[in-house]
Amino acid sequence: MKDQTVRNKTTDLSQTEKILEKYKNVRGALIPILQMVQAEYGYLPEPVVDLISERLHVSTHEIIGVATFYAQFHLKPRGQHIIKVCCGTACHVKGAKKVLEKLSKTLEVSTGMTTRDNVFTLEEVACLGACSLAPVMMVDEDIHGKLAPDTVATVIEEIKESGFPGTA
Ligand code: FES
Repeated sequence: MKDQTVRNKTTDLSQTEKILEKYKNVRGALIPILQMVQAEYGYLPEPVVDLISERLHVSTHEIIGVATFYAQFHLKPRGQHIIKVCCGTACHVKGAKKVLEKLSKTLEVSTGMTTRDNVFTLEEVACLGACSLAPVMMVDEDIHGKLAPDTVATVIEEIKESGFPGTA
C-alpha cells in the first residue's frame, strides 16, 4: 500500500489514469480496477470513484454498490495499523465486547473508524480462528489472545513502542 495518508490532501489521479489506461479495452474490469486503485491509495477516494465512473460509463452509485458488497474494499481512509477485534461466539462469551469498548475508549475512536492521526483503524470481525485464545484481536498480521479490558492499553503501547513506522 503506497499511500494511506491521503486524507485531507488533494487526490493525485495520475495513478488512476494509468490503471484505467491499462484496462482501457477490457470489459468487466471494474473489480480489478478497484483492487489496483485501492492498492495504490489504501482505499477508494471519492474523486477516484468519480473518474472511474466517467471512464467506464458506470454510475458512481453502481461502483459504490460493488465496493460495499465486497469486504475487501474501503470507501474511507484506513490507519497504518488495522485492529480487528473478534466478536465471534467464543470471544463474545469471554468478554470481547468489553475489550472492544476499552479499545474504543483508549484510541478515542468508534468501531469502523480511524484515529485522527491515521495510525489505527478499529474494526469488529467474525471468528479469527483462534478461539482457544479468546478473546482475541488481530493487529495487522499478529494475533493477540486472552485479552482483558485492563490489558489492551498495554498492548497498544507495546505496538507503538515496537517501532512500527508512524507509531513511535
Ligand atoms: S470466536 Fe474469536 S477467534 Fe473464534
